[in-house]
Parts: sequence; C-alpha cells; structure tokens
Amino acid sequence: MTESEYVLVTGGAGYIGSHTVVELVQAGRNVVVVDNLVNSSEEALNRIETITKVRVPFVKADLRDAAAMSKLFTDYKITSVLHFASLKAVGESTKIPLVYFDNNVTGTISLLNAMEAHGCHSIVFSSSATVYGDATRFENMIPIPENCPLGPTNAYGHTKSTIEEILRDYYAANEKTFRAAILRYFNPIGAHPSGLMGEDPLGVPNNLLPFLAQVATGRREKLQVFGNDYASRDGTPLRDYIHVVDLAKGHLAALAKIESVSEGICREWNLGSGHGTTVLEVIAKFSAAVGRDLPFEVVGRRAGDVLDLTAAPQRAADELHWKTQLSIDDACRDLWNWTTKYPYGYQKPE
Ligand code: NAD
Ligand code: WQD
Repeated sequence: MTESEYVLVTGGAGYIGSHTVVELVQAGRNVVVVDNLVNSSEEALNRIETITKVRVPFVKADLRDAAAMSKLFTDYKITSVLHFASLKAVGESTKIPLVYFDNNVTGTISLLNAMEAHGCHSIVFSSSATVYGDATRFENMIPIPENCPLGPTNAYGHTKSTIEEILRDYYAANEKTFRAAILRYFNPIGAHPSGLMGEDPLGVPNNLLPFLAQVATGRREKLQVFGNDYASRDGTPLRDYIHVVDLAKGHLAALAKIESVSEGICREWNLGSGHGTTVLEVIAKFSAAVGRDLPFEVVGRRAGDVLDLTAAPQRAADELHWKTQLSIDDACRDLWNWTTKYPYGYQKPE
C-alpha cells in the first residue's frame, strides 16, 4: 500500500480520460490509471508523460475482474475515482446490447464493490447527454436542463441511465458518506493543444469530426451529411460541441465539489457550452482550420438522430464554477494539429 493518496482514473488511456489525467497531474494530483485497452492504446500513457513529465502508474485490467480490482485498491490508497471506462458506440450497442450492459453496468458494479470494500466513497461518473433522448418531445426543454425527463433511445444510452439509477440508489442507502458527481457530457471534440494526444477511433469513425479529419487526410473520400431536412437554420441537426480540454477541466471542478461537501452528495451536472452548432457550420469551421473546402454529400437521416442536443449549462456554472473557455474553432485547430502530426493516431499506418 502506498502512503500517498491517489485518484483512480478508469478508462484513463481513452480519449477523454487521457486528457483528464493530464489536467489532474498538472493540478498536482497523484493518479493511477486502470484500462483494459479494448478501445485505446498504452501509447497514450507515454504521451501523458511527455506532456506532464510524470509517469502515471498503469494497471491493465478489466473492471469486471474483481481480484484485479481488489489488488488495485490494496496497492494504492485510492480516495476518489473518475470513472470513464465504458463501451460507447451507439450503433454497435443496438446489435450487442448484452455486451454493452455487461461491460458498462457490471463493470460499474464491480468498481463500486471494490470502492466499498476499501472505504473509497467518491466517484465522478461519465454520463452522457444521450440519456435525455429527444428533448424536443417536450416543450421548453431546449436548452436541456438537468431535470429534463430521461428517455434514452438506444442500448448504450440505457447503460448510462441505468448506472445513474444505481448511483442514486446507492447514495440513498449511504447518504452520509457516498459522493457521486454524474456528468452528462454533450459532444466532446478536439485534441490536446500540444498535438500529442487526441481521439484515436478504431475502424470507421462514428462521430462527425473524427470522420471529417480522415476526409481531410484523404483516408476517406467524403463526408456523408445525415439529413438537411431538420427544423434548424440550415436544415442540419444542432449539437453542443465542447473542447475535450474544457471537458477534462470540468472533471476537476466536479471532483473539487464532491471532495468539499461535508456529507454525501449525488448530483447531475451537464457539461456543455449552451450553444448549438449545425453540421454544416462544423464542416465550415473545420474546413477553415484545414485551409480548404472538404467534400461532403447530403444523404438521408441517420436512425436515432435528433434535431437538437444543446445543454443548459447554468447548474455547472453556479455550483462547480466551471464553464467552457475554448471555442469550436479552437477545437478544430487542435484536432487538425493532432491529425497532421499523427494521421493514424496512436496506431501505425494501415
Ligand atoms: P474511449 O473509448 O476513448 O475511452 C474509454 C476507455 O475505457 C477505453 O480506453 C477502453 O479501453 C476502456 N474500457 C472500456 N471498457 C473497459 C472495462 N470493462 N475495463 C477497463 N477498461 C475499459 O471513450 P471516451 O470518448 O474517452 O469516453 C469516455 C467516457 O465518456 C465513456 O464512459 C463514454 O461513454 C463517455 N462519453 C463519451 C462521449 C463521447 O462522445 N466521446 C460523450 C458522452 C459520454
Ligand atoms: C453529430 C452530428 C449527425 C457523422 C454521439 C452519441 C452520444 C455521445 C456523443 C457518447 C449529428 C452528424 C455525424 C457523419 C453526419 N456519445 N453526422 N455525418 O450522434 O450527436 O452523439 O456522440 O455518449 O451518445 O450519440 O454525435 O458526432 O455522431 O454526430 O452528418 O458521418 O453530425 O447526424 O447531427 P451524436 P456524432
């Protein structure tokens, strides 16, 4: 057992986790990462070291491995957990829902069991705006406040809303001690401004900007825009895009909040900018960062897409003293810097 207190980051080799580890280390926290590398590379840990000059201890393990989790909590004095580890591909989740529930929900229960057994009571959980589903089904719910009724429309979203319920029920049974921050991210984009870290999707990217980045490098011919018949200013859907470094800093704000309360807490916060941007506007901004117009064609709507997912960010501003500082233009610049330096991410060229 170490003397020092550690923050455990599950999924810390992944996109958002790795950026958050950098912010934690730069804020002077001791960090240990656990990740099974199902959707990431150990190279991310090397990049974290290059940026921070600190080698963060890494444990390669699956959260569902109870023995590995017990050893982790025995080896390190873990006082708080940032819980990113999850499968996250919406389309895939609809095809293999049991795999998603087992990984995401069973993994979280295993983590909570290890925390309980070792007297660790604080967790920041990566939830998602996807738990709201189509908020336009209600009047006056755009921008979306945290008290908007939940209604996820796919298996991935159901795993997130289920984990939220587990955290709320666990808190109800442990109100004096348990501290949980449920962070509902909107659309994270961009990369570290150093160009050393960024998103590294395996296979064909599902998300808008990673796909567009591969169009810009010539790995993909053109972007398909999924529908221009929505009720927005240019017919394409509105999303609240948030720079991954802003998002990472939101975790430090949430951690500070739950570490400062005198009793338990379980509360949801949106992490978004409060501004909706259309697909065509994002294409224009990334094209400007690249320096040329990127090819796209408009095709039919993608199943499950909704018109508008824009956050009401006031609760995070009031209670976490956090708001976004970086723009979509900053994110496009940083994504293009990362893409030009590492067009194949942490992987070798195909
Ligand atoms: P990511 O895939 O890059 O990172 C997730 C990490 O968790 C990966 O490194 C993966 O190897 C690891 N992992 C998965 N299952 C594991 C398990 N059972 N045991 C150990 N490690 C495991 O994804 P990300 O974009 O960084 O997302 C981080 C979190 O934020 C996830 O919980 C995701 O659902 C949530 N989220 C992401 C987005 C987004 O658009 N990226 C939006 C909202 C919420
Ligand atoms: C953004 C916009 C598409 C790709 C997803 C998850 C959500 C959360 C964030 C984890 C939409 C359009 C996209 C393309 C396009 N993740 N688009 N062509 O769907 O808002 O959210 O990531 O929690 O749960 O659902 O993000 O980047 O896929 O799409 O036209 O090739 O870009 O229609 O309007 P989305 P996205």
